[in-house]
Amino acid sequence: MKLKDKVAIVTGAGRGVGKFIAMAFADEGAKVAVAARTEQEIEEVALEITTAGGQATAIRADVSQEADVDRLMEETCRSYGAIDILVNNAAVSGPFRRIEEISPEEWRRTTDINFIGLFLCCRAAIPYLKKKGKGKIINLLSAKSSMPMLSSYYSTKLAVRAITESLAAETKHLNIDVNGFHPGGVHEGMLGSLLENLNTLQEDDPVKEYFDRWLKRVETGTVPPDHAARLAVYLASEESDGVTGNNFSVYDKRFSELFQGV
Ligand SMILES: NC(=O)c1ccc[n+]([C@@H]2O[C@H](COP(=O)([O-])OP(=O)(O)OC[C@H]3O[C@@H](n4cnc5c(N)ncnc54)[C@H](OP(=O)(O)O)[C@@H]3O)[C@@H](O)[C@H]2O)c1
Repeated sequence: MKLKDKVAIVTGAGRGVGKFIAMAFADEGAKVAVAARTEQEIEEVALEITTAGGQATAIRADVSQEADVDRLMEETCRSYGAIDILVNNAAVSGPFRRIEEISPEEWRRTTDINFIGLFLCCRAAIPYLKKKGKGKIINLLSAKSSMPMLSSYYSTKLAVRAITESLAAETKHLNIDVNGFHPGGVHEGMLGSLLENLNTLQEDDPVKEYFDRWLKRVETGTVPPDHAARLAVYLASEESDGVTGNNFSVYDKRFSELFQGV
């Protein structure tokens, strides 16, 4: 077991990619705090894990709220005695519209969750990781290239690449490894809602051509969520000790052996 007795927090673990990461961590022996805003979803995931013989606790938390984030750390530590791993997976895709049609409130909301929320989680977790003398922070990224109509989402995800590199440089001497990775196009997650959004485009919309080309790539390029889960296990485990400050992708050839049999 690669994560035996490690304590992990996975934000946004109620569904999609985060759920698969939480379940894979538990399979590898970790005690998992399953966090998100929708209580029913996180409780179901925690129950699925415990029914399978693993250890998990559901903790309702909105990552954009400082008090919720602090409570998430405290409750995890109270339940399991420490924190070893933080996976910053929670995110929203934000409005699917042109920039001039996005309100400042909508733009701030995407930033508050995807970027400020990730900052709050790192900020709150680091003292616990320092106490352990080592730790792992894993940030979920998106593709490097940005799409039209999703400017707020892609802007926050580019910012996550930057914080990953800065934080890694700050925490290297503390044995805290910080890495990001792109999980690939995953149907089980927000890719599904993006595909629904495409149906709202008018036939003569100038971005339609872009998305028609993109859809062709999606048809052949999606990956099962287990790829993200396996890469997250690798980055959370001792196998990756000393690997820090990288922004990886499940499409990186170097990880292909991790995904064999998926
Ligand atoms: N799916 C893909 O194709 C894809 C591609 C590239 C990158 N990613 C990245 O992978 C990660 C997971 O994406 P996904 O596709 O699995 O998304 P998803 O299915 O939409 O799930 C997002 C999760 O985040 C939680 N969440 C959203 N806002 C939150 C908040 N304020 N506080 C706490 N939790 C919050 C959601 O639960 P609540 O709403 O209940 O809070 C949910 O559990 C994201 O970082 C995303 O950017 C996904």
